[in-house]
Amino acid sequence: MPQPPRRLKRSLLNTGGTIHAWGEPEIAKKLAECMEVDPEVRLPFTHGFHTYPARMHPSIAERAIALFGGKSGRVLDPFVGSGTVAVESVRAGRAFSGVDVSAVALEIAWARTRFLKLDDSRLVEREGADIASRAVRVNPGDIPAPPWGREVESWFSPHTLREVALVSLMIDDIPREDLRRILRVVLSSILIRLSKQASDSITVVDRNWEPWPHKATYRMFADKCRELAKSYQDFSKDIRDRDVTYVEPEFWLADAREVKLPKAAFSIGVTSPPYPGTYDYSFHHFLRYPLFGEDPGFVRHREIGARRDFKTRPDALDRYTADMTQCVKNALEALAPGAPLLLLIGDGRFGTRDVRADLIVRGIAATLGARVPAGASQERTEWSKGASSRSKAEHFILVQRP
Ligand SMILES: C[S@@+](CC[C@H](N)C(=O)[O-])C[C@H]1O[C@@H](n2cnc3c(N)ncnc32)[C@H](O)[C@@H]1O
Repeated sequence: MPQPPRRLKRSLLNTGGTIHAWGEPEIAKKLAECMEVDPEVRLPFTHGFHTYPARMHPSIAERAIALFGGKSGRVLDPFVGSGTVAVESVRAGRAFSGVDVSAVALEIAWARTRFLKLDDSRLVEREGADIASRAVRVNPGDIPAPPWGREVESWFSPHTLREVALVSLMIDDIPREDLRRILRVVLSSILIRLSKQASDSITVVDRNWEPWPHKATYRMFADKCRELAKSYQDFSKDIRDRDVTYVEPEFWLADAREVKLPKAAFSIGVTSPPYPGTYDYSFHHFLRYPLFGEDPGFVRHREIGARRDFKTRPDALDRYTADMTQCVKNALEALAPGAPLLLLIGDGRFGTRDVRADLIVRGIAATLGARVPAGASQERTEWSKGASSRSKAEHFILVQRP
């Protein structure tokens, strides 16, 4: 019987597997090339800094822009998530616009695309160390309980919760706004590890959870600031060394179904939309909302394709298809005629049925009169309890406006 890999917690789980290219051979070959990534390789620049469910592999974004994006023009990602396409657009010297329904996503993407002077990246490290050294000296009894509500508080041991609240208050006191935003994202990057939550995308209490030692939060925060400072230095050096002009990316908090995008303004769209019935972003991030002052209800009501809907609503698949049709229509209208929209999307599950994402995309394109000249599909083995496995696929599909 096949065994699940021992180390399931690698940097990006949604990579690896046999690739099958289909459609027009030349395009299909390039799409397959985009998907051929090494799942074990350490993620460069700011890519590895913050976990995110269904993060795109940076090589996919990098190659997609290089192989399909022409020499110039704006890049669009209507589901920007943690900003992988944004980072790669910046590295390619391209203007970028990204949309997401969640401020948590947009703040991570914004922080990951900062092009900092050496002194400023060092400041990120110094501020982290300074907060940690001041926080250690604070008497735990003097730290006020955060007003975050029982639902969030019960996911931390009481001392860790107060430590997180103290770091958050200290961040609020930093005069420079960009630094405050960056450090808040740093705190977000360690939050799930500090909590009882099993992982970013598994929102149950970890069976092996043990409370962190007192003051571990501060050390972890300072370490993560140092790591980010180093990532910023690599990122900025890469841009400078290759003589790339940094173009400040734009991020819009909006619903991809309704957002008013400029018409025919982009030369390529690269995106990974929510997979059908696979993730529950508003649950995955619920511990983070208080940090960013985000209204969880906004995301909950607007999130497309949530697993919870696919479990409880008989019309979930139809709704997903209709929602995605609206998003694809919106994105295609924002692209210049003939420009490619590249969708990375994984198969999902509806009740006990598997849902083929490539068929959904082809159906949407047919409804919109758009072309799907080619795609590449990569097998993914999904491991469940008891070491049983099923095969699903992730697809990289090119859609072209009529
Ligand atoms: C697969 S993730 C994108 C991951 C991203 N490519 C990355 O590398 O981090 C899909 C994103 O779609 C967002 N989303 C869900 N419903 C949305 C909607 N109606 N409008 C815009 N974004 C939405 C989720 O918040 C999530 O960040």
